[in-house]
Amino acid sequence: MKQHILVTGGAGFIGSHLVDALLQAGHEVTVIDILSDRNRGNLNPKARNVNADLTKLETIGIVEALAPDVIFHFAGNASVPKSVADPVMDMEINYVATARLLDVASKIGVKRFVFSSTGGGLSSEYTTLPTPENTPSRPLSPYVKHKLASEELGEFYCIHRGLPFVALRFANVYGPRQTVTCGEANVIATFAHKMVRNEPVQVNGNGLQTRDYVYVDDVIDACLMLLDQTNAAGPLNVGSEHEINVSTLHRVMAQYLGYRVPVIKGPADTGASSRSCLDITKIRMTLGWKPTTSIQDGLKRTLDWHREEVERERAKAGLVREFAA
Ligand SMILES: NC(=O)c1ccc[n+]([C@@H]2O[C@H](COP(=O)([O-])OP(=O)(O)OC[C@H]3O[C@@H](n4cnc5c(N)ncnc54)[C@H](O)[C@@H]3O)[C@@H](O)[C@H]2O)c1
Repeated sequence: MKQHILVTGGAGFIGSHLVDALLQAGHEVTVIDILSDRNRGNLNPKARNVNADLTKLETIGIVEALAPDVIFHFAGNASVPKSVADPVMDMEINYVATARLLDVASKIGVKRFVFSSTGGGLSSEYTTLPTPENTPSRPLSPYVKHKLASEELGEFYCIHRGLPFVALRFANVYGPRQTVTCGEANVIATFAHKMVRNEPVQVNGNGLQTRDYVYVDDVIDACLMLLDQTNAAGPLNVGSEHEINVSTLHRVMAQYLGYRVPVIKGPADTGASSRSCLDITKIRMTLGWKPTTSIQDGLKRTLDWHREEVERERAKAGLVREFAA
């Protein structure tokens, strides 16, 4: 059934892939995002694209007037270091704006509210690995605290106002369109950016630190499944259930590209966990979802996209030179 779906952050890395998939499935899509040179190119012209800041009250008024059937709330500060540098900025977009959106969503009576939360920030060498949703945690960064506070508020709206709220706790999402300027550029985006330009990459620490990487198309499949299945509730981990270390990533990516530039060794990241991996039993049981993209395939598609980016940059620079001549 065709629905009107609002994707906040629909010009961002994950949000833009979701917009494409929703339009492809025949839905009517509205995007609300702050547009900039970094994300404008991700917009799908078939969507209604609104350039607006969700921390402003008038933007919440726009949402009320639009009265979408479903909201995917994917706008936010996605960077842990930025949240540490400016906790109030993080609170305004990652918590206060989410609270206002939850409130207006319950007034409009949306059929589904999906919140982009974090799982990676809750999994470490100090938790059970792979980490299930009910693992107790004491997050230190404002980013994770505000994501969890938003989840709790979403649960309040679910229980007391009947809002069908689901939080998807993403592991480390990777894929095309994730650039080093994206909110939380992970190791894959950072390595890919440098490797396709034949620049040296830096590996911090002993290179054995692990993360759980999930390919963006798999994440989008989980989002689409939520449209049809109304029994899903509470937080759901979205990961690969596999740990991969930095040195292995470097080797696989370098092999695919034929990249031979020696690695620069850097100091270990202070405060970063040495391991992270999510247990996906709950989403497997409730939605029947599991990731289908192998890390090898996901890396190839990501690296191909980064190579094409370099081509696009060269073509653009050539045009500028031609114009200036
Ligand atoms: N990428 C990951 O691995 C990952 C992991 C866990 C959670 N998440 C969450 O998923 C969501 C999407 O992440 P992403 O990687 O696509 O990040 P991204 O930075 O590419 O996209 C976020 C989008 O939100 C928009 N935005 C930021 N502040 C806004 C505001 N005040 N008003 C309107 N729009 C605003 C940005 O312009 C951007 O287009 C974020 O909430 C992030 O915290 C991402």
